[in-house]
Amino acid sequence: MTVALALPPVIGHRGAPLHAPENSLAGFEKAAELGAQWVEFDVMLSADGIPVVHHDLTLDRTAGRSEAVADLSAESLAEVDVGERFNAHYRGQKLPTLAKVIERLGELNLGANVEIKPAPGREAETTRAVLAALQSHWPSHLPPPLISSFSEAVLAITAEVAPELPRGWLGEKLPEDWQVRVKACGCVSVHLGWVELDEAAAAAVKAAGYALAVWTVNDPEVARRCRAWGADAIITDTPGVILAALNEQSETSQAQFTEADLR
Ligand code: G3P
Ligand code: MG
Repeated sequence: MTVALALPPVIGHRGAPLHAPENSLAGFEKAAELGAQWVEFDVMLSADGIPVVHHDLTLDRTAGRSEAVADLSAESLAEVDVGERFNAHYRGQKLPTLAKVIERLGELNLGANVEIKPAPGREAETTRAVLAALQSHWPSHLPPPLISSFSEAVLAITAEVAPELPRGWLGEKLPEDWQVRVKACGCVSVHLGWVELDEAAAAAVKAAGYALAVWTVNDPEVARRCRAWGADAIITDTPGVILAALNEQSETSQAQFTEADLR
């Protein structure tokens, strides 16, 4: 099956977490307000098998509570405030279910990179639940969600259960055997950390025909460098800043081109 993918230049990482609580409805609204066309977010399962949008295994950092997400029911998680700890202004932002996020993305016209982040041992169950929600509720006016994961088991299950959805191989850096691994999951994109990325790795990914996404880039200079190396998308905590930097870069290259043309 051929799966098409057109990535936007900037993707809001967990929304826009330098400006609003990560992985929250307010965060996705902020990302849209700052000009992002897509957001990236993390999905895991509640104790009773409902996909919820959260990054860490526990609630310590986001809500100041020590429980694990996987140990609480969806009903209990719906009461967890993930806004107040970020800033009192966001008090009342509740940890959202994937269903709520999908609905809001449809209203905001935001595409998404859905990162499946299962609790250890719950890879199959998490993947199947997330895909079922996406297959039945994803808004038809949005581009299909791009599924990524650090877990190759998740990507393999996705290829089997939802072959129609584009998949992205996610890693800190490109391993030696990356081509075999990326191909095994039928991925169309490769998502690499900017810290370990160099020009040769970026060029190898592009030369093999994959889309390249780089995370998590908050420095305009780094974003411009990654784009110059061929990155299709920059995943960032601050979409407005990175969009402005990339626009400036394309104006500069346009100006250079015009000048060269006149010579
Ligand atoms: O998908 C890119 C990035 O989100 C991967 O790392 O830990 O922020 O989910 P993490
Ligand atoms: Mg993530």
